[in-house]
Amino acid sequence: MKKVNIAVVGATGMVGRSFLKVLEDRDFPYENLYLFASARSAGKTLTCKGKTYTVEELNESSFDRDIDIALFSAGGETSKKFSPIAASKGVTVVDNSSAWRMDPDVPLVVPEVNPEDIAWNKGIIANPNCSTIQAVVALKPLYENYGIERIVYSTYQAVSGSGVKGVSDLEEGLKGNKACKAYPHPIADNCLPHIDVFLENGYTKEEMKMIDETKKIMGDQDLNITATAVRVPVFYSHSESINVQLKKPFELDDIKSLMDQSEGIVLMDKVSENVYPLASIAAGTDPVYVGRIRKDFSIENGLNLWVVADNIRKGAATNTIQIAEKLVETL
Ligand code: A2P
Repeated sequence: MKKVNIAVVGATGMVGRSFLKVLEDRDFPYENLYLFASARSAGKTLTCKGKTYTVEELNESSFDRDIDIALFSAGGETSKKFSPIAASKGVTVVDNSSAWRMDPDVPLVVPEVNPEDIAWNKGIIANPNCSTIQAVVALKPLYENYGIERIVYSTYQAVSGSGVKGVSDLEEGLKGNKACKAYPHPIADNCLPHIDVFLENGYTKEEMKMIDETKKIMGDQDLNITATAVRVPVFYSHSESINVQLKKPFELDDIKSLMDQSEGIVLMDKVSENVYPLASIAAGTDPVYVGRIRKDFSIENGLNLWVVADNIRKGAATNTIQIAEKLVETL
């Protein structure tokens, strides 16, 4: 692969630090690496592949140098302001915020599902919501082989999805301190059916992200989808129950071997030995784990899946860097 110059925007954040770890783990072929964050972090140092880098304050001239790809995870506002500046200077931005995801001029990409959409980018590519990414990796082979009539998502999402504050609320809660910084209620000992803000239709923004993003990534606005997103007292990895009605009849063994052969999926489905995907197994790793595959007897062609992945890695940093890897192939 060609060596390129990479910028990481939001390098000091939870996902930003994970970018550096994933660049290292996957031995991403960069020549120069530039790290940016807010003025608060200017001068801090971070390491990647054994080399120390100084964090710079992000400003309007940050991209006035030879940068090929910028990996952004610095929140929606920062991305709205700085992604177009970077793109206007010939940098291709891969953005982890929700700022651009539903923009019709911006591809929303999961490399195992719709890598072809990278080709029509105009300088910005969006990384989907963490819960959506793992779901569509599991659903794509079903969609291609059987067609999908309807999807019911029920999520069990880790506190790291709320950043440092979410992790701190659970850590403090487990010590008996029930004060909340990230959530309206204590997360220790609770499952909160409330992720992001409530919308007028009664869904949360997180639930609507899963619905709308799935349709965009699959390129199918006719999919029938509903979702309930729940925050649970787990530090890392989101778990999801996915109930799906296929368009054609299926054999369970065929579904299992399809999952086993699909890119990005690890099949963990041996219930006789208590083998099924767990958050603690997925944490720190890149695959999407699929198990508890069984028929939904209540509906024609109904199927149930249990899908688990690390929300910070495959749900954010790894997916972003996989997109960057595909970009490098085209440079
Ligand atoms: P900083 O650490 O200097 O605040 P997280 O999502 O974990 O909170 O991380 C957010 C990341 O985005 C951090 O690296 C943070 O930098 C960075 N960030 C936040 N606001 C800005 C901004 N206005 N300009 C550049 N980086 C920003």
